[in-house]
Amino acid sequence: MTSDLRLGLIGCGQFGAFLAATAEKTGSARVVAVTDVDPARTAKLAALHSARACADEQALLALGEVDAVLIATPPAQHQGNAINAARAGKHIFLEKPMALGEAACAEINAAVRDAGVSLMVGHVLRYFEPYRSIARAYRTGKFGRALHFSFWRLEHDFLQISPWKGQRAGSGGYLYEVAAHELDWLRTVLGEPLAVQAQISKRPASHELEDTVALQLAFAGGTSVHYLGGTAFPANSHGYCLRFEHATLSSDVAFDPARLRIESTTGLSPDDLEFDTTDPYLLELNDWIASLDSGTPPITGDDAAATIALIESAYRSAGW
Ligand SMILES: NC(=O)c1ccc[n+]([C@@H]2O[C@H](COP(=O)([O-])OP(=O)(O)OC[C@H]3O[C@@H](n4cnc5c(N)ncnc54)[C@H](O)[C@@H]3O)[C@@H](O)[C@H]2O)c1
Repeated sequence: MTSDLRLGLIGCGQFGAFLAATAEKTGSARVVAVTDVDPARTAKLAALHSARACADEQALLALGEVDAVLIATPPAQHQGNAINAARAGKHIFLEKPMALGEAACAEINAAVRDAGVSLMVGHVLRYFEPYRSIARAYRTGKFGRALHFSFWRLEHDFLQISPWKGQRAGSGGYLYEVAAHELDWLRTVLGEPLAVQAQISKRPASHELEDTVALQLAFAGGTSVHYLGGTAFPANSHGYCLRFEHATLSSDVAFDPARLRIESTTGLSPDDLEFDTTDPYLLELNDWIASLDSGTPPITGDDAAATIALIESAYRSAGW
């Protein structure tokens, strides 16, 4: 099946369009049907991929020629989209965040299990450099014990991207829509946190998202993590400082491996990390497509649901 996987796309917005184009770049998949609640977006993307323009999700899911779906709708829609796709017998690639709340994730996972289909959640940071190589090097013991990590992902113009991003009912909030990336990555590196505490500030404004959100997390072995995010900053800024026993890794341009600095007691340098220059989204979709033949997808619904559980407990701790 995977040499010519026939895909349906649900959600033809900014990211759905990108995902569909990337899926075709794998050389193993074709986008054969698309749908969006906005008919103009459906028509535009259908024309681009010579795909069927479906009036709604039901029409797309009823097509026998669709083997699997890419879901790139706002987070509040993920639960319904994914459950309907599973019940229609389609394999699913679901964008992050998996869904709004642990209960919604549990319902998706139950529907997927009942239908015997495969579900992967798009936590692409696991494929992004330098995160991917840092995680791999840490696991092989190159840096020694993890002592303290600090992340910041400060947004200035994020709320202008799409109106739903500023509505908690649509996006879930900043931790769901943005911090889900780093929180998921942290789980893959350090395991499940022992504790999380959030502090949130919010002034009345036309949107509902956090101005600032500061998280403090505790992991086994004494590793502590601080994360600062939010939407009210005067400029976009995204970086990290990861302090290990034998090395400190830092960057003020998080997604640019060339900006990674390493101070090390063992002579380590960024060259030792061997970054993969392949598009991370291509790596992610290749992995997903390969998993449809070989079994378990690399990021399962149970795995992604644990990231949602972490987000929920962070919000609970702040009374948000
Ligand atoms: N992995 C990443 O790097 C990354 C980057 C950006 C966005 N995303 C994720 O992708 C998803 C979409 O984000 P976006 O930026 O493309 O938003 P967007 O607003 O540009 O697109 C969402 C689209 O979904 C459509 N839609 C809404 N409800 C629908 C429904 N029930 N059925 C069909 N279509 C529906 C909207 O009309 C819109 O066209 C979100 O989950 C977001 O978190 C992931």
